[in-house]
Amino acid sequence: MERTLAIIKPDGVARNLVGTVIQRLEREAIHLAAIKMIRLTKVQAKGFYKVHEGKPFFDSVTDFMSSGPCVAMVLEGEDVIAHYRNIMGATDYKKAAEGTIRKEFATDIEKNIVHGSDSPETAAFEIGYFFSAMEVG
Ligand code: TYD
Ligand code: MG
Repeated sequence: MERTLAIIKPDGVARNLVGTVIQRLEREAIHLAAIKMIRLTKVQAKGFYKVHEGKPFFDSVTDFMSSGPCVAMVLEGEDVIAHYRNIMGATDYKKAAEGTIRKEFATDIEKNIVHGSDSPETAAFEIGYFFSAMEVG
């Protein structure tokens, strides 16, 4: 069993897509191990995306991630990191496969509705960034 950190970003929350995203996880038999709504500060968003520090989109994406509340979740399942990234679709919604969340709902490369960890190492860091051991169980 693997775990990953998923976020419904401020655009997804503002556009009332929380239920839609969670429904897509549930119909794929992905289990929710933890969930909460949280608004990141700019500093917290920069810490979350520190791997992207120095890239041209860093300032803008951290502004966006701190612009409103997010829904953070820990997902659990077999190969859930890759499975959930397949459900999300490519970073650039224009290149995302049909039927993916980003293809259907993203409006911009930045405003792409959802986040998902990309490896076991980033999943461990990102889950710990949002949730305490007691919250995940
Ligand atoms: P990245 O980790 O490359 O994508 P993913 O979310 O698919 O793991 O980038 C993090 C976020 O940064 C991405 O979801 C949206 C934003 N971003 C941009 O705004 N412009 C870009 O060119 C890239 C690559 C990402
Ligand atoms: Mg990433």
